[in-house]
This record gives sequence, structure tokens and C-alpha cells, in this order.
Amino acid sequence: MTLIIDGKAVSAQVRALVADEVAERVRRGGAAPGLATILVGDDPASAIYVAAKRRACAEAGIESFHHELTADAPADEVLELIDHFNADHAVSGILCQLPLPPHLDSDEIINRISPDKDVDGLTIASVGRLASGMSGLRPCTPAGVMLLLAHAEVPLAGARAVVIGRSNLFGKPMVQLLLAANATVTICHSATQDPADVCRSADVVIAAVGVPGLVRRDWIKDGAAIIDVGINRTSDGLTGDVAFDEVVPRASVITPVPGGVGPMTIACLLRNTLTAAEEASPTPAAVGTAARI
Ligand SMILES: NC(=O)c1ccc[n+]([C@@H]2O[C@H](COP(=O)([O-])OP(=O)(O)OC[C@H]3O[C@@H](n4cnc5c(N)ncnc54)[C@H](OP(=O)(O)O)[C@@H]3O)[C@@H](O)[C@H]2O)c1
Repeated sequence: MTLIIDGKAVSAQVRALVADEVAERVRRGGAAPGLATILVGDDPASAIYVAAKRRACAEAGIESFHHELTADAPADEVLELIDHFNADHAVSGILCQLPLPPHLDSDEIINRISPDKDVDGLTIASVGRLASGMSGLRPCTPAGVMLLLAHAEVPLAGARAVVIGRSNLFGKPMVQLLLAANATVTICHSATQDPADVCRSADVVIAAVGVPGLVRRDWIKDGAAIIDVGINRTSDGLTGDVAFDEVVPRASVITPVPGGVGPMTIACLLRNTLTAAEEASPTPAAVGTAARI
């Protein structure tokens, strides 16, 4: 029997746990965590994502501080806003929605966020902390994948894991998280020769490419765990990077698209915001609670 992971249900559990921990923190006299969201420009998809994140904050008892800037906002205006949120004690985490308009240097903007408030885990400091095995805020989508693997009780220590895709946003931090869990990790990218052959020996395959149905049945060994991060808008609706119907019979565990990895990103954003709040101002008995979620 293949376990088809219900990412919506796991996400709901994590969000409920975060809400409980936030309520407990406030009961002990701590301030509610706060998330600042910055939206530059009028990209409709970005506006929808930010609105969903703010709704999720409200449901978890996390305060949200939202600021919108016009598409032609100069870099200085964005940087000043980040400086303002960096200095604001009511703000535990800062999220600058990507992509930014082309005249802005995303690296410069993102790296202006204090590493202590970097709830997307994308600053150089957060990347370095992850790569060197230090504690810190982890990028939300790969962190969400780790929670799904734990939920499905997929063993990682000593397992062979293949990550397809090497983006800074997902593939590279995913590799680091798997390494930290003692998996033996291989990464495939657009120049990999015969990725099917690489995947065939894997116990865990994680695809984050953006090519619908790239991973086929003959890429997968019997009993492998398959995590599909891809989100592709096709004439058939939203599809992943894995040819789901073909692969299901071979897999021990698989995530669907939609309803698999997708819902975990916001859950981990809330968790990171709670963690950042606890690190900045711990309430005595709440220390370390976010790490248990
Ligand atoms: N919340 C979520 O669920 C979530 C979050 C993030 C991303 N995603 C989805 O995940 C997918 C990947 O996102 P991303 O931001 O990582 O994308 P990205 O920055 O475009 O990176 C795609 C990666 O795939 C590699 N690649 C391209 N074609 C390939 C092929 N034929 N074989 C093997 N590797 C190939 C690229 O290799 P090179 O480096 O050589 O170019 C690159 O490393 C997208 O569908 C995105 O929508 C979902």
C-alpha cells in the first residue's frame, strides 16, 4: 500500500500546534509574535500569497504588519522599510515577497533583513548557519518537506536521497537538511547526465524542477519515498514534477500536487515566526517549544 501524504492535514496540525504555543506564550506574559510582510509592486500572484500568509498569522494569533510599496519604489525605500522592521521589537519576523521588480537587487534587499528575523531563511547568514550545522531559521519549503518525511516515518539516516533541482530557494537548503539528518545525498540539475539512472538507486527522491511529469515510473525503485515540490500550471490544472499515476504503485510514500508540499510552506513560516519570537524574548517555560513542533 502506498501512503499518499495529506499535506493539508499535516499543515493544519502544525498550524494548530503553533497557535497553541502562541497562546501559551501570551498566557505567560510574552508578547504575541509578529510577522512583517513587504509587497513591492502589483503582481497578482504575490498579492494572493501575502494575503494567505497574513490570514494564517491571524488564525495562529500572530500579529501581522503589512506594508505595500509601488512597483517603481527605489531600493532605498525598501531598505529603509526593512531597517524600520529590523528595529521594531513587535516584529519577530520579516518577509519580503519574491519576486521583486527587476530594477531591485533581490540579494541586496533580502540580506538587509536581520538574520534573527529572517523567517524565510534566505539571507547569507541563515544559509551559512544551515550549511555549517548551526541552529537558525530554515527556509520554509524544505523545512516543510522534512516535517512531511517525519510524519510518514521515512527513515533518513543512512538512506540514499536524490534532490532534483539546485535552486537557492529549495534544492540547496533541502540537501543541507537531508545531510543534517544523515542521509547520503545526491543532487541533480539540468546538466546531470541520465538523472533517471541516478534516481533509480534512491530511497528518497525529491523533485523541485518545474517540469511537469519529469519523474517517470522507470526512474523509481520499488518502495522509494517520493516528494513532489513542483507546481506547474498546465491545461490539466496544477500538476507536479512527478508523473503521479505512474509512480504511485511503485512508491511507499508520495505527495500529491496540489495538497502535498504546498500547504507546508505557510505552516513552517508560522513556526519560524514563533521560533524567532522565542529567541528574541523567551518566556521562561516556553523556551524551545517551537523546536518541538
Ligand atoms: N511552496 C511550494 O510548494 C514551492 C516552493 C518552492 C518551489 N516550488 C516549485 O518547485 C519547482 C522548482 O522551484 P525552484 O524555485 O527551485 O525552481 P528554479 O529556481 O527554476 O530551479 C529549478 C531547478 O531545476 C533544475 N532543472 C531544470 N530542468 C531540469 C531537468 N530536465 N533535469 C534536472 N534538473 C533540471 C535546474 O537546474 P540548473 O540549476 O542547472 O538550471 C534548477 O536547479 C517549481 O515548480 C516551483 O513552483 C514550490
